[in-house]
Amino acid sequence: MRKVSVALRHDASIGETDPRLFGAFVEHLGRCVYGGIYEPGHPTADKHGFRGDVLALVKELAPTIMRYPGGNFVSGYDWEDGVGPVEKRPRRLDLAWMSTESNAFGSNEFIDWCRLANIEPMLAVNLGTRGGDAARNLLEYCNHPGGTALSDLRAKHGWKQPHGVKFWCLGNEMDGPWQMESKTATEYGRIATEAAKMMKWIDPGIELAACGSSGRNMPTFGAWEDTVLQHTFDHVEYISLHTYINNYAADTSAFLASPDLMDGFIEEVVAIADSVSARKHSNKKIMLSFDEWNVWYRTRRQQDGGRVKPGWPEAPPILEEIYSMEDALAFGGACISLLNHADRVKVACLAQLVNVIAPIMTETGGPAWRQTIFHPFAQMSRFGRGRVLRAEIDSPTYAARYFDPRGATPVYFPLPSVPFLKLAAVEDPQSGVLSLFALNRNLEESMSLDVALPGFGQPVLDSALQLRHKNLKATNTRDKPNRVAPTALKEVRLGSDRMQASLAPASWNVIRLTRSR
Ligand code: AHR
Repeated sequence: MRKVSVALRHDASIGETDPRLFGAFVEHLGRCVYGGIYEPGHPTADKHGFRGDVLALVKELAPTIMRYPGGNFVSGYDWEDGVGPVEKRPRRLDLAWMSTESNAFGSNEFIDWCRLANIEPMLAVNLGTRGGDAARNLLEYCNHPGGTALSDLRAKHGWKQPHGVKFWCLGNEMDGPWQMESKTATEYGRIATEAAKMMKWIDPGIELAACGSSGRNMPTFGAWEDTVLQHTFDHVEYISLHTYINNYAADTSAFLASPDLMDGFIEEVVAIADSVSARKHSNKKIMLSFDEWNVWYRTRRQQDGGRVKPGWPEAPPILEEIYSMEDALAFGGACISLLNHADRVKVACLAQLVNVIAPIMTETGGPAWRQTIFHPFAQMSRFGRGRVLRAEIDSPTYAARYFDPRGATPVYFPLPSVPFLKLAAVEDPQSGVLSLFALNRNLEESMSLDVALPGFGQPVLDSALQLRHKNLKATNTRDKPNRVAPTALKEVRLGSDRMQASLAPASWNVIRLTRSR
């Protein structure tokens, strides 16, 4: 059994988690909208066609903000197609996913669904095939109270009250050659600036995220962020980041190490943003919107080349990644990376919500169930609110090489010193509950974890759960939806200013402590 010790710095926090750190993403892609959140005629659907079983699982997952309508889809989207009488809405070819878009679901339906789910909407504007003019019109349609053609049109469509959408993304992955009308950093920086200016003239209360490059190993990474922020700095609050981690190389240890690259990625983007700020002699801090993150690789090739089956299908079952136990572990590591950067990552969106690389799966006409990755996310969202404490971790390490094929040239990232323990500690200032999120990346050995909690006094156990399965390839299915689910973690011992636990090999653990009165 490996011994690992942690000293929690109660007096020193990394930052406070923003509720928007626990967001997710709904794209018009495959069966995410149609057959996912929206399926008129489904036995659980309400009068709007919103699936009740999916909604119940979404409430349990507890995302706080939802990005919509894309993703790659948004770069060819005419928002006007998705509003007004449904029977008059046009059917269109969607070139992002080689599908047919019926437009039966659009921005107003999305806002209604968000209100029902108690989630803040986040809208992306099309800066691919459209530009500032379409962006300002969509904003006026959504947020202007009334008395203009577009705001009155919203009222005529049935939504008298303005939607009050606060958070907007200025396009999506605009450096990606797969994007409709991708751009150079200078082209995008100019268009985003002009769109942002007009949008804020209409509604000064909104917040804007400029596109970062679509991945850390893109040839554009770094220079893109720098140029885009040089242009947009005065007009935006956020720069976006996207990461999908993978196990293409079938190397589980390297896969579980890969969230550490997310840590590096975040720190690099912070450094670039702060260097732009310094060169502008400004004390403004650009925050990070990690608005796409997840594990994704098995179904990823569908994005390239042939993509989906020919024939422009409607809501085809694409990108329906089935997540395993080991995916949930890597995913949990990514959750810890986000929590431990709460000072600068203020927004994050798990990509995506239902069916498409998602924590929730459905059968069209049938049931909905939780994938393995559902559990770490739900725990992070519920228990990750508060002050993230600094932790000094003394853990044995291992060496890994992580393969990432994205971009022009496949890259191996050397990770010479990966601590077996990855951990985040969050204290809820209201309840005083301390939540420890702990990933044991050792595939063979248990970990004897010793956490010093100076100043905490005598801890009392609130709950202790673990996610593990002897078969790292185990998945949840329609018929066996709870094969991978949290179970009680029994081996927790408490002493004055101290907590000790034995963590199983390859396990995700959430231990919650309160103080004795
Ligand atoms: O989430 C799936 C796709 O991944 C999104 O549409 C795109 O932004 C990213 O490349």
